[in-house]
Amino acid sequence: MTEGTSLRGSQRPDLALGIMSGTSVDSVDCALCAVTHKQVSLKRHWQVSFPMRLRERIVSAANGRSSSWEVAQLHHDLGRFYAFAVRSGLGQDRPMVIGLHGQTIFHSPTKRNPATFQLGEAAWLVEELRLPVVSNFRAADLAAGGQGAPLATLFHKLAFGQRKRVACVNNLGGISNVTLLDFRATDSPRILAFDTGPANMLLDIAVRHFTDGRKKCDTDGKWAARGTVDEVLLSEWLEHPFFRAPPPKSTGREMFGDTFWQSALRRIKARRLSCIDVIATLTEYTARSIALNYALHLGVKPDRVILCGGGAANHTLVQRITQSLRALFANVEVVASDSLGWPLQAVEPAAFAVLAWHRIKGLPGNLPETTGARHSAVLGQLSVP
Ligand SMILES: Nc1ncnc2c1ncn2[C@@H]1O[C@H](COP(=O)(O)OP(=O)(O)OP(=O)(O)O)[C@@H](O)[C@H]1O
Ligand SMILES: [Mg+2]
Repeated sequence: MTEGTSLRGSQRPDLALGIMSGTSVDSVDCALCAVTHKQVSLKRHWQVSFPMRLRERIVSAANGRSSSWEVAQLHHDLGRFYAFAVRSGLGQDRPMVIGLHGQTIFHSPTKRNPATFQLGEAAWLVEELRLPVVSNFRAADLAAGGQGAPLATLFHKLAFGQRKRVACVNNLGGISNVTLLDFRATDSPRILAFDTGPANMLLDIAVRHFTDGRKKCDTDGKWAARGTVDEVLLSEWLEHPFFRAPPPKSTGREMFGDTFWQSALRRIKARRLSCIDVIATLTEYTARSIALNYALHLGVKPDRVILCGGGAANHTLVQRITQSLRALFANVEVVASDSLGWPLQAVEPAAFAVLAWHRIKGLPGNLPETTGARHSAVLGQLSVP
């Protein structure tokens, strides 16, 4: 009997901590969870914002503008910052394991020479907290022929799968990703997960551009609510081949970051759009590209769409997504994850708490049907005190 199977019978939950900092590079999110083979519940979650200079160094590395020495230094500085973020909220709790996603600075799951890279040296957390840490989750799936993403799927299945129902969990981080949980046939649920394109990334870049970095995002979607959508630009941007490409697929800053923005800016200037019209058009772009992906790739009408991630706090974005999805699927219910007991910023770190728990039990963490991997794989590298 393997370690994994011997432990399957145990239903006593273990504490696991997940740490996530995503493509928006806004903060480090931590979630302390109670995990069993079949269930996960949230004990507590907290957020620690990146200091401005550290954020600038991450964005520079993610845009390919840092030297190898700078990247190496950042790897260790980030490790120490993650340890600080954990300590600031953990208190007296002693999780059995910590799942550290790290900071992606490169993700390119191409067929010929796939690569992905997350920074944040786990040794600093092990040394400071004296707890086992699992990191580098994506590489094993990539090596097995997968996209190395999305990896939150297993958590979505545990937390949001509902008998006889079809649900979508749509995370709105820098990038938008959807997990379809089709549980109509309860014994053999159909699960599909893929990135749909931008969520907040282009919006954040545009807001920083128009305010010289003074504002970080379109808070609560206030600008977008006042602007007018430019249908010509919107149609041009919706031609992006990523939306029509079938899953498995994943993307990042490489496709919907600075390079996209620089060419978009030329068209924005040519069409003389005001800043609020640009923000309105980019908000609509996120909403319509999500709907386009659903229409082309889901193959089923969801009963419910659960929104999570920071973008679910942007009222205008949520309203635009709801309208675009209802145009496609009449009466679809659109809810925020917090109404189901999962605060918007707890979902992604909780996913890595669950994955770390699976790693320590010797259980696979990827769902090959969603990442495109040839087989399931135990994900992550374990560092122990
Ligand atoms: N009140 C708000 N109004 C508008 N936008 C918000 C608000 N709160 C958060 N956001 C947006 O959410 C983003 C952060 O979301 P989140 O942390 O889920 O993304 P992320 O760090 O890219 O994570 P991941 O890649 O794991 O999905 C911010 O950069 C901002 O654009
Ligand atoms: Mg974040």
